[in-house]
Amino acid sequence: MFIKAAEEKDIAPGGMKAVVLNGHEIVLCNYEGDFYAVERACGHSGARLERGALTGWILTCPLHYAQFDIRTGSALSGPAPAPPESIHQNPADPALRTKDLKTWPVKTEGGLVYIGMQ
Ligand code: FES
Repeated sequence: MFIKAAEEKDIAPGGMKAVVLNGHEIVLCNYEGDFYAVERACGHSGARLERGALTGWILTCPLHYAQFDIRTGSALSGPAPAPPESIHQNPADPALRTKDLKTWPVKTEGGLVYIGMQ
């Protein structure tokens, strides 16, 4: 079932908007006129991702700069290590990992953006 989440005009290309649908906190992203929906909380420490940067289809977390592919939710890179210990940090350290983001299907119709919910 698709549920109305926003108006297309409210999210410019390269823009993002946080919405809550059926108890899920979601960020709608506009990548060159196509819309994608990913979970709002960063897979590392839960930062609100709409406060990050959307560059093409790459969403960068505002807190520690983990990056995600908004098309799939896949984590592309983990959080940045904190200097100056970074050269000694183990990349396998759980503190330096993030998880993929949940995604939802999106469709547009009549100037509105709908998110598919189960
Ligand atoms: S909370 Fe997003 S990278 Fe740490």
